[in-house]
Amino acid sequence: MLVHSSPAVYILLSSFLTLFIRAQPSPEQQKRISAAIEAALNQTGTPDYTAFVNPFIGTDNFGDVCPGASIPFGMVKFTSDMTGFAPAGYVADPTEKIRGFSPIHDSGTGSSLGSYGNFEIMPLLCPDGFDTCTTTLEARERLRKRNTDDATPGYFTLTLDNDIQMEATATRRAGLERFTFPRGSKPYFALDLANDLPVSFAGGELTIDPDQGRITIGGKWGSSFGPSTFNYQAFACYDLLDNGKQKLDEFGVWTGDTHGLDAKGLGLTHLNLTRNLIGGVYQSGALFSYADNPHQVNIRVGVSFLSEDQACANAEEEVGNAPFEDILAKAKMLWQEKLSKIEIDVGGTLPNVTEMFYSSLYRASLTPNNATGEAQGVFANTESFYFDSLYCSWDTFRTFYPLLSLHSPVEFAQIVDSYIDGWRKNGWMPECRANNLPGWTQGGSSGDNIVSHFAVYYHNEAARLGIDLNDLYSALLADGDLNPPEWNTEGRQVNVYKEFGYVPFAVLDVSSTGRQTREGSRTLEYAFEDFGIRQVAQLLGKEDDMTRYTNRSLFYRNVWDESVTSDGFEGFMQKRFSNGTFFFNNPKDCSPKDTNNSRACSLQGTNENGFYESSSWEYSWYAPHDTAHLIELMGGNATFIDRLEHFFDEGYYLAGNEPSFQTPIGYHYANHPAMSVDRVRKVVFDNFDITPGGLPGNDDQAAMASLLAFHLLGLYPVPSSTQLLILSPFTPKYTIHNSFLNISTTVTVANFSSKSVQRVIPEGVPAYVESVTINGNSTVSRCHFDFYDVFRLGGDVIINLTADKEAADDCAGSVPESISTGGFAQAR
Ligand SMILES: *[C@@H]1O[C@H](CO)[C@@H](O)[C@H](O)[C@H]1NC(C)=O
Ligand SMILES: *[C@@H]1O[C@H](CO)[C@@H](O)[C@H](O)[C@H]1NC(C)=O
Ligand SMILES: *[C@@H]1O[C@H](CO)[C@@H](O)[C@H](O)[C@H]1NC(C)=O
Ligand SMILES: *[C@@H]1O[C@H](CO)[C@@H](O)[C@H](O)[C@H]1NC(C)=O
Ligand SMILES: *[C@@H]1O[C@H](CO)[C@@H](O)[C@H](O)[C@H]1NC(C)=O
Ligand SMILES: *[C@@H]1O[C@H](CO)[C@@H](O)[C@H](O)[C@H]1NC(C)=O
Ligand SMILES: *[C@@H]1O[C@H](CO)[C@@H](O)[C@H](O)[C@H]1NC(C)=O
Ligand SMILES: *[C@@H]1O[C@H](CO)[C@@H](O)[C@H](O)[C@H]1NC(C)=O
Ligand SMILES: *[C@@H]1O[C@H](CO)[C@@H](O)[C@H](O)[C@H]1NC(C)=O
Ligand SMILES: *[C@@H]1O[C@H](CO)[C@@H](O)[C@H](O)[C@H]1NC(C)=O
Ligand SMILES: *[C@@H]1O[C@H](CO)[C@@H](O)[C@H](O)[C@H]1NC(C)=O
Ligand SMILES: *[C@@H]1O[C@H](CO)[C@@H](O)[C@H](O)[C@H]1NC(C)=O
Repeated sequence: MLVHSSPAVYILLSSFLTLFIRAQPSPEQQKRISAAIEAALNQTGTPDYTAFVNPFIGTDNFGDVCPGASIPFGMVKFTSDMTGFAPAGYVADPTEKIRGFSPIHDSGTGSSLGSYGNFEIMPLLCPDGFDTCTTTLEARERLRKRNTDDATPGYFTLTLDNDIQMEATATRRAGLERFTFPRGSKPYFALDLANDLPVSFAGGELTIDPDQGRITIGGKWGSSFGPSTFNYQAFACYDLLDNGKQKLDEFGVWTGDTHGLDAKGLGLTHLNLTRNLIGGVYQSGALFSYADNPHQVNIRVGVSFLSEDQACANAEEEVGNAPFEDILAKAKMLWQEKLSKIEIDVGGTLPNVTEMFYSSLYRASLTPNNATGEAQGVFANTESFYFDSLYCSWDTFRTFYPLLSLHSPVEFAQIVDSYIDGWRKNGWMPECRANNLPGWTQGGSSGDNIVSHFAVYYHNEAARLGIDLNDLYSALLADGDLNPPEWNTEGRQVNVYKEFGYVPFAVLDVSSTGRQTREGSRTLEYAFEDFGIRQVAQLLGKEDDMTRYTNRSLFYRNVWDESVTSDGFEGFMQKRFSNGTFFFNNPKDCSPKDTNNSRACSLQGTNENGFYESSSWEYSWYAPHDTAHLIELMGGNATFIDRLEHFFDEGYYLAGNEPSFQTPIGYHYANHPAMSVDRVRKVVFDNFDITPGGLPGNDDQAAMASLLAFHLLGLYPVPSSTQLLILSPFTPKYTIHNSFLNISTTVTVANFSSKSVQRVIPEGVPAYVESVTINGNSTVSRCHFDFYDVFRLGGDVIINLTADKEAADDCAGSVPESISTGGFAQAR
């Protein structure tokens, strides 16, 4: 997802930003990671995988990654909030200033408003006393000291230019903050009641209990990516005394603005503010200082979406009296457990690949945020697991959940439970839950592809994993058949889609409302969502539904306009009127080659292009379940291959957005797997690296991270199916552990050469798949295999490479499956 601008503008901006000299994070951070990888080469036993993780990858160049202190799927992620475009709070850009440190953030979301950032605390030096403290947002902003930002899984720190160091570590719903002040100075802190990143305060209260040394805050705020009329509630509990080791001095409240209001109330303990109806930033909070000039101050923070009491209880239960080091050690242990699910042969792998891989795997367990027991609104007191920040399903169904499905069915099942519960409580599954509220839908109900992926992988274990397949199926049918009155936040516009066989442009819809844009891409996404439903209908033996949804999954054909040509290639997806006439849009519009910076390509009502965050050139590849027929539409295998090559050579490929994820492996479908191998090498080296700018765009809740992980493992998943495409791994050996199934699978790459791990594979270097064997048996094709024959089975897989590209550029068996050529004929 990319919300803030069109792709064209986005690329201009990012190249501009890379001109800044980078002084953050600290160079020591990369040195430490490199040393850890190097040391692991000679170690025996399980390496400390957390030492290979660089949490700063994606904190520049609009990656929007949160490097904050968190446990796996943590509800809190402690980091700093910065000025400028910083949806995740933190950005590496050293010219941006810090306005505070806060506990709740999302990672990898492109909301131009920013997400969360409530309850900011800012350490201050007030040499002239309480009344002179710089409490307001602008007055308290500070640059960082050069080369001080650092983070590891479960830990974050930075130092302000006044030499105050801030550190944090986390549990699921709480954490510890540690501030180190210059010796001899008196520590002051401003704590913000009202401000979050989207400036959405809708009323709240703050209470100081000076005897207990506790400040509680609670209130309502608005969505970062959804209707502004919705509000969520959140609460925090700040314990200031470090179990009696610290003593408060002054305390009070403040209110301020940038035009002269700077009022402080020494000794006052309560704020009770309602929504400011005229709008704008409302600024108010607490201010306090410590007696005896302590060098270090420890503050315990609990967060809840239920109540202030619950926020305090969360801190007591999860942190208690434990010291910073103990909480950090526990967080690190949880991360090591997650990162050990996929073990690569570090000794045989290039250090950059090791770092990219484990940093990706880290982010692939950073979100969604586990708010189980903290559900509010219609989910209050739910019996189900509850996850905040499903942001958005359109982003994550392609690679994020398929990666999770290989190693962590328990976690996957909990998230699926939360999706199904969305149907129970709202009538449809969530598409984009943001800040505990329904966010904007993008391609329809992509949750269908997520829960169906779970069903096809784990139907045998579903009951043991706590999933009722009948409920799952009912939730799918609701998405597929029930038109919601308002489909901007849930479900799809299925009434007209069913009637016309596509989502018509400029259609009269008398029973539901929504933003009448993206008719081309909505049709394509609806059709693939229907494929997901079809897969579960097949699994459960629902013959009629299966026939009906198989038919609907082919509706993508109805927006294919064979009369459109571009660069000599014939036939493109286009939006279409209800009378059948196509509406012409230049297929290059909204591609990276589009020079029109004022064109709207995203969710804007002014997006006239017919496609979401992509061009027709890109979306015309999109029928992952029926590419064989798409090849026919395009004029056969040879034209399809020429067209793919042209697409990349001309620069129509937009690496930073989800519709492009599967394009580089398209060659497999036309029986040219070696060309996919070459293409993926280029895609990785042109778009990913180990720097803060090392993502081609928004991480989209680790959609990008999991895509990169698949590329490095030499695999590509077909969502809602058990098929995996085989490519050429960037590592000589890896093992995937599935601890629920008690199964481990080791993939060994015979003839692996690290010389092949570069942008262009040199001639004579083995890199192309010559054969694949599973436990000694050859696969029927060297282009694909099935979860049930590989990772569900366990054992040893050998991918044998050759340097003879020509000989290997053929599946030597079937191409990957397509509906129209009899594929996906039975459930496994
Ligand atoms: C690893 O072992 C090799 C050979 O024993 C040695 O040359 C090298 O210095 C060692 N590297 C490290 C980081 O210890
Ligand atoms: C805060 O103010 C609201 C009205 O704005 C009132 O209903 C509420 O009782 C007040 N809370 C306290 C603790 O005084
Ligand atoms: C989420 O939190 C609940 C409650 O602590 C826990 O049982 C569950 O295992 C957690 N799941 C994940 C994926 O973190
Ligand atoms: C789908 O069903 C419709 C209506 O029965 C039929 O006209 C159409 O040919 C079917 N499409 C395919 C691809 O089977
Ligand atoms: C279909 O409707 C569009 C928009 O009203 C119109 O421009 C077009 O001419 C119509 N096509 C036919 C065949 O009537
Ligand atoms: C750029 O796009 C906008 C919006 O689609 C359009 O109104 C404008 O005419 C376009 N400009 C050029 C030069 O094509
Ligand atoms: C493309 O190639 C595959 C594999 O060789 C073949 O099965 C298929 O029929 C070809 N498709 C077309 C449209 O020629
Ligand atoms: C590793 O990544 C860094 C940063 O992108 C780059 O400068 C360096 O060339 C890379 N090394 C290799 C071996 O690819
Ligand atoms: C995996 O092993 C554990 C402990 O040995 C056992 O309790 C569990 O039932 C096993 N799971 C499966 C799916 O066999
Ligand atoms: C290998 O193939 C043989 C013969 O088809 C079959 O009996 C055996 O079960 C297969 N082994 C595995 C591990 O799949
Ligand atoms: C890899 O393929 C080559 C050439 O066919 C063959 O000689 C070799 O034995 C194979 N290696 C493995 C490990 O299967
Ligand atoms: C691959 O390895 C096998 C031995 O396992 C060897 O016979 C073959 O020549 C190698 N091929 C290449 C291209 O290195």
